[in-house]
Amino acid sequence: MPKHIIAHHYQVSKKERIDSNKHNSFLIWFTGLSGSGKSTIANLVEKGLHEKGVKTYTLDGDNIRKGINNDLSFAPEDRTENIRRIAEVSNLMVDAGLVVLAAFVSPYKKDRENIRTIVKDVNFVEVYINTSVEECERRDVKGLYKKARAGEIKNMTGISAPYEAPEQPDIEVKTENESIEDSVKRIIDFITPKLQLNNE
Ligand code: ADX
Repeated sequence: MPKHIIAHHYQVSKKERIDSNKHNSFLIWFTGLSGSGKSTIANLVEKGLHEKGVKTYTLDGDNIRKGINNDLSFAPEDRTENIRRIAEVSNLMVDAGLVVLAAFVSPYKKDRENIRTIVKDVNFVEVYINTSVEECERRDVKGLYKKARAGEIKNMTGISAPYEAPEQPDIEVKTENESIEDSVKRIIDFITPKLQLNNE
């Protein structure tokens, strides 16, 4: 902590907040190429959790970069800062008692390791949405791959910037081999014991 900053301790603790919510709080981090399906899957996982009465919030690259992080580019150092800020925001939300879903390309291993350090290992679930660049480019939902090929977008992950795939994610979803419904069910099944719903 910086010098002359002294943390203040408040009377309502994280434990009291999660006891009152009747479930644990943690961060589910979705990483993968642009157009891999991160946001679609995160959205359906959130819907499933919400239906179980879980208090959730989703942070998404495209939305965050329009607001709090609108000063950041896609250069490596700006992506690092993007992920660091999101990790800090997620950490506050986990402390607030929420299950946070975050969908960011997050192409660098060291940045994802930093998230784990910020929110702590026990609060971090890494989901790798593994869709090949060929398939993302074929889908090209936002037309970004076409622009990248035309040289209109620089540093496009998978085309002109690297993506360092996770080696040991908690969950890996190969969207080209598995239906969305099955992937969503697998993720929800994986996190359900961690939720300790109703403190069972
Ligand atoms: S990250 O690399 O810093 O984690 P983030 O998830 O916030 O990226 O933003 C990625 C989104 O920005 C993509 O889904 C895509 O819509 C858009 N985008 C625009 N330019 C690029 C680029 N050069 N590389 C990757 N995504 C880009």
